Amino acid sequence: MKPLKIYATLEEHRTDFPALSQSRNGKPPVYLDNACTTLTPQPVIDSITEYYSSYPACGGRRSHHWFADEVTSRIEGDAGAGIAGSRRRVADFIHAASDKEIIFTSNTTQAINLVALGFNFRPGDVVLLGDKEHNSNLLPWLRLQKSGLISVLSMDSTLDECFDLAAYEQKLKENRIRLVSMAYTSNMTGYSIPADAVIRLAHQYGARVLLDGAQRVPHQSVDVQALDVDFLAFSLHKMCGPRGVGILYAKADLLGQGPQEESPTIGDILEPAILGGGTVSDTSYGTYNLLTAPERFEAGIQNYSGQIGAGTAVEYLQQLGMERIGAHETKLNQFLTDGLLNRYGEEGWLKILGPQDASQRAGILTFEVKRPNAVGIADELSRKSNIMIRDGVFCVHSYFNRRYGQGWLRPKSFRDHRMIYRVSFYLYNTIEECSVFLESLDEIFQERCYI
Ligand code: ALA
Repeated sequence: MKPLKIYATLEEHRTDFPALSQSRNGKPPVYLDNACTTLTPQPVIDSITEYYSSYPACGGRRSHHWFADEVTSRIEGDAGAGIAGSRRRVADFIHAASDKEIIFTSNTTQAINLVALGFNFRPGDVVLLGDKEHNSNLLPWLRLQKSGLISVLSMDSTLDECFDLAAYEQKLKENRIRLVSMAYTSNMTGYSIPADAVIRLAHQYGARVLLDGAQRVPHQSVDVQALDVDFLAFSLHKMCGPRGVGILYAKADLLGQGPQEESPTIGDILEPAILGGGTVSDTSYGTYNLLTAPERFEAGIQNYSGQIGAGTAVEYLQQLGMERIGAHETKLNQFLTDGLLNRYGEEGWLKILGPQDASQRAGILTFEVKRPNAVGIADELSRKSNIMIRDGVFCVHSYFNRRYGQGWLRPKSFRDHRMIYRVSFYLYNTIEECSVFLESLDEIFQERCYI
């Protein structure tokens, strides 16, 4: 990627994102659904399409011809370009000790599943989760529980929706917890757990830690070595990158280097959950020799264009600076939080979920509207003002069902409606967009006679 022209403010980088130059009904898009997926800057789009326009073949020394050699050189080439360069960049970005600890997956969900299906759990092991886990960090563990291999425990937050370290240590003391698997930053409230303490205590009690970093890595700098985390999962599509590319970071000593999967009775080891082409050096109808990590975990033809685009996305963020991005999001969140609380805070029917202090919610602001006919506001914001936010339960059904009781989403009377709306920011959002959101929401509330 060519060095970017770095502007004085992040807002000026809006011009890098072609989706933002469109208009509908004479109004620009106001994209505030970044926790779901972020927009893609032109340099990333260019690097994704380069593969399809110039060398759209398979790599990894499968075929030997002009196009395939181009792909292979990008897989094996020097760090700095292509897929090898992307792996190196991702490793640098999260401060991994080696690029061999970076496994390309298709998303965070697949990365978490690779741990659930590949970690050598023993019968009776316990996996400890948070209380607001995304389905992607819940279902893989529930399935193992259903099979009888492990049992699943979950934490409760404190009354002010923060992490309860004392209760956590108690759980570690009282149970045979083998793995703690938690969202670093909640996709629902934006709250981040105190990961340093969570990991330190887990290790003290002999447990490994997997962090779901999907909502953290795109927004704040993460140092896997300083954290001493065992596994970290995240997705590139939430950080200006291509869809369908995720990362599983795993400490080198967990990745197994032997030619076969290791015996499940020795130490902690991650076995490859999916085997096939690209994972082995040799096979017969009796045996096979696995390649070393990361290849043994990356079965089948890979998303080459996406992996190349992943490196460009990381480079793009590195050039802008993660500290600037985090500070910018907090500023926007503070402005919108104040705007909502000043207008409706006293009313009681609009509640911000998670800690009330915006600085504890990174780039996420989720609020509940409990009024007759509270559904459909996201749709109306989009139709009226091109404002894009997310509504619903954000794949955290379990939390809402526990909080409001099963069936709360479909009450018998429209008077008992409540709906949850989430605004989530990224580097290209502006204070002006927050103002447009507040005005448009106010108009909808007036039309619905809420105010
Ligand atoms: N996990 C993503 C979200 O919260 C999809 O929107």
